[in-house]
Amino acid sequence: MLNIILFGPPGSGKGTQSAKLADQYRLVHLSTGDILRDEKRKQSHLGREAKKYIDQGLLVPDEVVIQMLAKWIDQNVRKGCRGFIFDGFPRTIAQAEALDRMMEERNMQVDIVFSLEVGKQELVTRLSERGKISGRVDDQDEATIQKRIDVYHDETAPVAGYYKSQGKLVKVKGEGTIDVIAGQLNSHIEQLQEETR
Ligand code: AP5
Ligand code: MG
Repeated sequence: MLNIILFGPPGSGKGTQSAKLADQYRLVHLSTGDILRDEKRKQSHLGREAKKYIDQGLLVPDEVVIQMLAKWIDQNVRKGCRGFIFDGFPRTIAQAEALDRMMEERNMQVDIVFSLEVGKQELVTRLSERGKISGRVDDQDEATIQKRIDVYHDETAPVAGYYKSQGKLVKVKGEGTIDVIAGQLNSHIEQLQEETR
């Protein structure tokens, strides 16, 4: 199994790069943001609860996201998947610890954590641009985009240290063309696979 985390601030390209990696290595792409938005669209109980946080650029409570993710992991493991790309999870230390426990219980492990490094102005530009077409409430105004970036710094950035201390964190420049960035991620994965062969 190959389990990868794509980590980085809002707009850093987690979703874009995850889709490419999932395709290339035939992994299951688990984006907690996409799952929550889907629940929102369906107006499920979970979706209605999550909406209160997502639309304001705040994090959905840990226990809600952790439970939801455990369910998705189990469904895909039962189907015999080759591994996962976690996109937008974990976003707090509590989530990172919960993921480690979930992995351990299932005899799995996180293999590598990519941190996509992108400057703040570029993030704001990308998200405001996408806001014109995405229909995502949290992309609509600069105050909400700024809130998401602040929440990232306060609550999510410490997760990088958590994985750094496990020796799993790899920083990658997230500015430049999508293909060049993808190439960098690929070469780190190939290197990891070489080492563990
Ligand atoms: P989530 O959906 O995860 O959103 P996010 O982290 O704010 O990030 P985005 O999806 O906006 O950006 P991205 O990094 O995926 O970049 P993308 O590839 O799209 O979370 C949304 C909300 O859900 C949270 O605020 C929270 O409320 C809730 N939530 C989700 N997970 C949670 C969790 N674990 N715990 C608690 N709450 C949670 O790219 C962005 C744009 O840039 C696109 O238009 C793209 O085309 C463009 N782009 C990508 N790469 C490049 C490039 N190299 N050059 C130029 N443009 C590029
Ligand atoms: Mg995304």
